[in-house]
Amino acid sequence: MPPFAGKRILLGVSAGIAAYKSALIIRLLKQAGMEVRVVMTDGAQAFITPLTLQALSGEPVRTSLLDPGAEAGMGHIELARWADLILIAPGTADLMARLAHGMADDLLTTLCLASEAPRLMAPAMNQVMWRHPATQRNLEQLSRDGWQWVGPDAGDQACGDIGPGRMSEPEAVAEAVFKVFRPAQTSRSCHIVITAGPTREPLDPVRYLSNHSSGKMGYALAHAAARTGARVSLISGPVNLPTPAGVERFDVDSAAQMHSAAHRLAQGADIFIGCAAVVDFRAEAPAEHKIKKHQNEDSLTLILVKNPDIIADIAALPSASRPLVIGFAAETRDVEHYARDKLARKGLDMIVANDISQAGGVFGSDDNAAWLLWKTPDGQASESLPSQPKARLASDIIQRALDLLAFGETP
Ligand code: PMT
Repeated sequence: MPPFAGKRILLGVSAGIAAYKSALIIRLLKQAGMEVRVVMTDGAQAFITPLTLQALSGEPVRTSLLDPGAEAGMGHIELARWADLILIAPGTADLMARLAHGMADDLLTTLCLASEAPRLMAPAMNQVMWRHPATQRNLEQLSRDGWQWVGPDAGDQACGDIGPGRMSEPEAVAEAVFKVFRPAQTSRSCHIVITAGPTREPLDPVRYLSNHSSGKMGYALAHAAARTGARVSLISGPVNLPTPAGVERFDVDSAAQMHSAAHRLAQGADIFIGCAAVVDFRAEAPAEHKIKKHQNEDSLTLILVKNPDIIADIAALPSASRPLVIGFAAETRDVEHYARDKLARKGLDMIVANDISQAGGVFGSDDNAAWLLWKTPDGQASESLPSQPKARLASDIIQRALDLLAFGETP
């Protein structure tokens, strides 16, 4: 029997050049045994015909709220109740805005308002429209209302622009649908090692080099991992946070101490997540006594040497003792470019990139957005997770890590 036999998907198609991808999405869902019914907005019909989607889904396509013939078959409230999942692909900026405001001015928005089913959207739009504060506000509102997301991807756009906003490929959208129905991964027998917070590199007995990491993201990951039932070892730089329940904590100060704790704990673990903001350089020879200001010297020269790359060393462990390795990247510009580079250079399986140039920042804040990039058997795949409380983002990242461990893939 196909894996998702009988699951009922209401596919909403709105007006975007990516509407053609909805045809392939229907095929993939049907191949997995799902029933698919399609609702198209007026604009969507300019990009692909209802007849095409009707032929592929094997069901009449609905386009209008006020169609007595169609309502006689299955009324819109009945259709809203019928769905096990509402999938919108592609989702335009306009549709997101209308849904964020609870409007019900056409059949698709009415169904979304009248249904209690889980909701998943694959946004598709020009990159400037995607980045616009109004769209980002709507994204946040819809996330709070329970919408889940697949994509958008970044890259070449139909309009000639390059950037985020391209609809995810049909395979990724179908996989995101399957994931909704797959039982959440638990990890009773799993050992997850996480680094969190900053490191401190002493210059003398009273001064050090460090950064603004508060440890909140790493601690949220440890909390989320422990909630799945995993054994969690948290290697923590100096932070002011309580240890999450069920987590074993190892306090360290410097990168060298974090390096040796990570080596000891990560060998043979299942997953290693490097969320710590490790200071890249340390003083070659920290002064034994407090460095004094001399009357006639206006500058001080420090010789710094490179710290070990903790995560790269874990990723280079022999395969028998190597965990799945997930890194973080905090970037102020060219986030995706640098994240791709770090994934390859450090030999990681997945990287979670955060844009720390955002208003409000990431260091110390309670919210974060992330762009995930991971290796697949055929290359790489990516996903954007919108700004949300670090606790919620952490649960998503842990779930994806467990999927990657269990299935070698994640939507
Ligand atoms: O702690 P918060 O205030 O909640 O903030 C969270 C965060 C911004 C610190 C976190 O989300 C984050 O992005 N952490 C990584 C920050 C970083 O400094 O990244 P990086 O680009 O320097 O390092 C890339 C990866 O290599 C990271 O997984 C890092 O842990 C690891 N690394 C870096 C240097 C080094 N010597 N050893 C390492 O293992």
